[in-house]
Formats: sequence, structure tokens, C-alpha cells
Amino acid sequence: MTLYTKNISIAKQNVMIVIQLTGLSGAGKTTLACNVKAMLIKLQYKAEVIDGDAYRQTLCKDLGFSKADRIENIRRLGILANVLARNEVITIMAAINPYESVRQELKSQNNFVHTVWVDCDLETLIQRDTKGLYRRAILPNGHPEKITNFTGIDDPFEIPENPDLVIDTHTTSEKDSSQILLDYILSKI
Ligand code: ADX
Repeated sequence: MTLYTKNISIAKQNVMIVIQLTGLSGAGKTTLACNVKAMLIKLQYKAEVIDGDAYRQTLCKDLGFSKADRIENIRRLGILANVLARNEVITIMAAINPYESVRQELKSQNNFVHTVWVDCDLETLIQRDTKGLYRRAILPNGHPEKITNFTGIDDPFEIPENPDLVIDTHTTSEKDSSQILLDYILSKI
């Protein structure tokens, strides 16, 4: 006779938190968010990533990169994040989120919203250029491949005022950065 042991996982209760990551394109927001989501799920928490790039294909398909559109983008992602959080899903928003006023707006709506600045210097990002977008952003005006309004090049990234946590992904490894974010979340729930 074979005995089957059922692995009963009980989702943790009373967990309400939104992490709004903020940082330049390529700084590691998505990687960090996905790593930490996987770590949280291993610990039997419910967790979700709201990724700017991904939602720009669906919920935010109509939005571009003007200031107004970026603000609208973060507001929509914020609404989704708050709904998930109220249902006890640990939620990590991975978007550039470049404007301080919008970050503060999200924080002021719910005391479970935390701001984490994923910091990496521009020089390193231009060198890495994993998506090939910085190369296009620094092309001369009029070049057919040129991208304009690119954050950090010809569009603003406002340095976060009093972020709850700063992770420098230039000097900190992917593994250590993920552990730092995980530890921070666990310390707040
Ligand atoms: S945000 O500013 O509104 O928060 P979001 O995180 O959703 O931006 O999208 C940023 C991603 O869009 C970048 O990682 C990059 O892949 C892509 N992208 C395309 N054009 C731009 C641009 N002009 N500025 C920044 N990111 C851009």
C-alpha cells in the first residue's frame, strides 16, 4: 500500500504591503521583483509583480511616455496594486515611476505602500544597455532609430526623497539585492 502525504500549504494572513520600486530603465527592477516574488512564494506567501513594461502591452496600452501618460500609468498600476494588497497579495510594482509627486500620492493613499529606489548609475546602464534602448536614446537628433523622451537621457528621473530603502544594483549582486528586498518586506509584514 502506498501512503500519500498531502502537502497542505496555508497562505499567510494579514499581509498587506505594496512595494513601489522606482529606478531607471535597466536598473534591475523587474529582475529583483521576480526574484523576490519567487522567494516569497517559496515561503508560502501570495505575491505578485506589476511590471510597467508588461502592463504597457495591456492595461496601459494607450499610454506613451509624456509626463501626463507616465503619471496615468503609475496611477493605474497603483490602483491594481492596492486591490491586490487589500487581498493580502504582497505586491511589487516594477516601473520607472520617475515623478516624486506620484510616488508620494501612492504612499499617501495607503500606509502599506513603501518606496524602494533601485539605484544604478547612468554610465553603467548605458554600458550594459540590455534592451539596446540607451544606444538609441543617445543617437543624434533626426537619426531614424532615435528614441526621444528617454528617462535619464532627455526625460527626468526625480531622485526619490526619503525612500524607505535604497538598493544600489551597481555595487550589490543580484542575489544580495534580492535578499535585501526580501528581508525588508518580511520586516514590514
Ligand atoms: S514609467 O515612466 O511610466 O514608469 P514604465 O516603467 O511603465 O515607465 O516603462 C518603462 C519601460 O518602457 C522601459 O524599461 C523601456 O523598456 C521602455 N521604454 C520605451 N520608451 C521609453 C522612454 N522614452 N523612456 C523610458 N522607458 C521607455
